Amino acid sequence: MRAIAVSALRADPVLVELPKPEPRPGEVRVRIEYASLNPLDWQVVDGSAGDLAPAPRSFPFVLGVDYAGRVDMIGEGENRFHVGDAVFGRAGVTGTAAAPEAGGTYGEYVCVPQDSAITLVPRGLDPRAAAALPSAGMAAAQILEAVALRGHDTLLVVGAAGGIGCCLTQLARARDIRVIAAVRGDERSRMGSLGAAATVDLTAGPPAGALRSACPDGIDALADLASAAPDGFAAHAAAVRPGGIALSTRGAAAGARLPEGVRGVDFRLDPSPVLLDVLAAGAADGILRVPIDTELPLEEAPQALKRNRAGGARGKTVIGLHRPGRR
Ligand SMILES: NC(=O)c1ccc[n+]([C@@H]2O[C@H](COP(=O)([O-])OP(=O)(O)OC[C@H]3O[C@@H](n4cnc5c(N)ncnc54)[C@H](OP(=O)(O)O)[C@@H]3O)[C@@H](O)[C@H]2O)c1
Repeated sequence: MRAIAVSALRADPVLVELPKPEPRPGEVRVRIEYASLNPLDWQVVDGSAGDLAPAPRSFPFVLGVDYAGRVDMIGEGENRFHVGDAVFGRAGVTGTAAAPEAGGTYGEYVCVPQDSAITLVPRGLDPRAAAALPSAGMAAAQILEAVALRGHDTLLVVGAAGGIGCCLTQLARARDIRVIAAVRGDERSRMGSLGAAATVDLTAGPPAGALRSACPDGIDALADLASAAPDGFAAHAAAVRPGGIALSTRGAAAGARLPEGVRGVDFRLDPSPVLLDVLAAGAADGILRVPIDTELPLEEAPQALKRNRAGGARGKTVIGLHRPGRR
């Protein structure tokens, strides 16, 4: 099968030909139609994912975690899936102790445990959108739980125009939470259409003044999806009122000096098939729209990873492998 893989830690991802993986007992093999790109894909290869994922332990290492496709083979034993089921989910990042060589999703086939974060694609959700949903959608839903806001509270989202930010803005808005979207560039129209109450351009100077005028009563919580350094994170957390929460998806909270009374949280995604079902139902009903920025073929994934590293994501990038209906 064709796959995008690295031959060593920090090596450049390249297109390779690999044997099709065989499902172990309790696994399914998925013939992937679409994968989607997450920053974690290159962070793991760089060795910069920190506690979020261990570095790859065997090579060639196939990148990618999010996928949608069809079950094409079932491993031995009881299984809740059948050959032909349309499924989507999030594969383990670097495999498990039992299967350290477990593959990623930038490949034509992947084997995943049937009890992992995998579920059926509901009627009304196309496989492209399903592939874009798992990591970003689950992270957004769990971040919203972690910051524990109620209707009319204010949430500042830094890095709001990317995969998680677009989902988080919509899910928060659906609960009547006021979202202030902080992005690099003028994205008022895009973020407004997703439900942001105000959008701040981080390239237009220090955001403190813009934030004060957007939310004179202060900010109840920060979700910082962009700052990797504790100082950058602390600068955004300075806008949070005492008693509020400042959450980082990049492990920046632990080392940050936060304002008195502000609680720092380093977020960690806990993937679950039940949460995937809830999100997929919302996406199929049109309540949650996963904006797709770019669609490209597998061989262009290395360039897309390079672009994502530089920032500037506007929604999700999806990678087409086998197109639905084609063998
Ligand atoms: N902790 C966990 O369990 C967990 C789970 C999922 C994801 N994550 C992490 O969360 C982060 C966000 O994920 P994502 O899927 O939303 O990524 P994404 O789709 O690539 O979006 C990231 C957004 O942040 C913005 N950005 C990047 N650098 C920035 C900076 N220095 N200042 C301000 N904005 C910046 C980018 O746009 P601009 O450059 O135009 O601003 C982009 O829109 C990633 O690092 C990912 O690995 C962590």
